[in-house]
Amino acid sequence: MGRAMFVLCYWWCMLVVLANGSIDLGVNWGNMATHPLPPKTVVQLLKDNGIRKVKLFDSDPKTLLALEGSGMEVMVAIPNLQLATMADSLVNAEDWVSENLLDFVDKVKIRQVAVGNEPFLKSYNGSFVEHTFPALRNIQKALDKANLGKQIKATVPLNADVYESSSSKPSDGNFRSDIKNLIIKIVKFLKDNGAPFVVNIYPFLSLYQDDNFPIEFAFFEHGAKSVDDKNYHYTNVLDANYDTLLWSLKKIGVDDIKIIIGEIGWPTDGNKHATTKDAQKFYDGLFKRLNENKGTPLQPSAKFDVYLFGLLDEDQKSIEPGFFERYWGIFRFDGKPKFPLDFTGKGQNKMPIGAKDVKYMEKKWCVLDTSIVNNKITWMVQKQTDLACRDGDCSSLTPGSSCSSISNISHASYAFNMYYQMRNQKKNACDFEGLGMIVDKNASQGQCLFPIMIDVGAGERFSFGFGGIIAAILTMFFTLM
Ligand SMILES: *[C@@H]1O[C@H](CO)[C@@H](O)[C@H](O)[C@H]1NC(C)=O
Ligand SMILES: *[C@@H]1O[C@H](CO)[C@@H](O)[C@H](O)[C@H]1NC(C)=O
Ligand SMILES: *[C@@H]1O[C@H](CO)[C@@H](O)[C@H](O)[C@H]1NC(C)=O
Repeated sequence: MGRAMFVLCYWWCMLVVLANGSIDLGVNWGNMATHPLPPKTVVQLLKDNGIRKVKLFDSDPKTLLALEGSGMEVMVAIPNLQLATMADSLVNAEDWVSENLLDFVDKVKIRQVAVGNEPFLKSYNGSFVEHTFPALRNIQKALDKANLGKQIKATVPLNADVYESSSSKPSDGNFRSDIKNLIIKIVKFLKDNGAPFVVNIYPFLSLYQDDNFPIEFAFFEHGAKSVDDKNYHYTNVLDANYDTLLWSLKKIGVDDIKIIIGEIGWPTDGNKHATTKDAQKFYDGLFKRLNENKGTPLQPSAKFDVYLFGLLDEDQKSIEPGFFERYWGIFRFDGKPKFPLDFTGKGQNKMPIGAKDVKYMEKKWCVLDTSIVNNKITWMVQKQTDLACRDGDCSSLTPGSSCSSISNISHASYAFNMYYQMRNQKKNACDFEGLGMIVDKNASQGQCLFPIMIDVGAGERFSFGFGGIIAAILTMFFTLM
């Protein structure tokens, strides 16, 4: 191919890419996994699938390094536990900016700093209420002082539980009374700085918390019973929720702040409503809705700006919200796609491109040696299974999950295997008082996948052992000195 052809293709291909990317779509890239993919692999995965924006939950330098030169728009974050420090003094905020951002601002398109993550969540009992706004102010001030205030905006991603409606109607929306005054201050501050209001919307949780929640309403299905509100008709939970926010903002005198949907998605395991099939249905509906290129009933000119939650499954997330919490990825933990979808909303579903050149550990599994127990579940088997589950991950065995229908005796094998894989296939992690047995035949059963973890290399491994504890003690010692 001649040079002219190449140039032609370059422009033509660019045009195709631009035309396809009509949805302003980002993803959340979380890292709470025992065996995370290398950051460079993840950046390639994003590029291969035409995703151009990411939202992070920290400011990990390895992640930012991998994003250098990618052209990706990035939202970095300050975890809730650091809010008090940032609120404490402007100097702390300045230190954070210089230690976390300055090395990267020239090569990574950092656009926002998320100050905390859903800090006013009801389940936090107000733990972060006091520090959030001062932290937000200090971080924005520190950005301004570093001459970054124009390009990088500080904001606070909030869960949609900061507002509620006394009926099912969006027009009855209002900010929660316990934090309303605080929200008024924050919104005014964001607006004055040209920063966006970031909100996380979870139709799945509505369904999870209330079995009577109209399921079609969550799935954008036509024929869903509509909610009529004044002259507006709502047929899906995204529009209804978004307008509940708009009404709540209206009531505090704000009707022109930029809104970003910081998280929206559907999990694929760990609950009867969390299946690959339901997730696909949800994303189909969501992408079609976004591709309509129209706003909401209340604000037809609204442009959706959306970050999916999330990119990858994360096996270290707390299961306190529910067993589904570890399965929010549109890709598995290893970057394998789970189901076909079409980000452009044209309904031409195909499997997304998976992560490339992933290095796995050996093809070895740990299972229950059924010959020892005569295929029976003895109290010993039960005890070892419980132990394996306690320190491993049995969320896929829970009712309604992908492995819930395998035989009881296979439950033990599943538990043993997860424990063993999460400990990097160490031989003694397959002992279980002599009940465990290492095999090289794939132990997966139908839908129930017995995974093999990513080989993350000795230095990177999640540490469960004494090494980690000793390191922690040493760090504490030196911090105190
Ligand atoms: C919030 O309060 C509940 C009930 O008092 C308690 O169980 C829970 O652990 C508290 N959560 C936090 C994050 O403090
Ligand atoms: C499996 O375990 C469940 C609950 O512990 C029990 O109800 C069921 O009878 C068991 N099935 C077999 C085949 O042992
Ligand atoms: C094991 O089998 C399952 C399906 O049966 C498959 O998806 C998986 O890739 C296999 N694992 C390996 C390591 O070959």
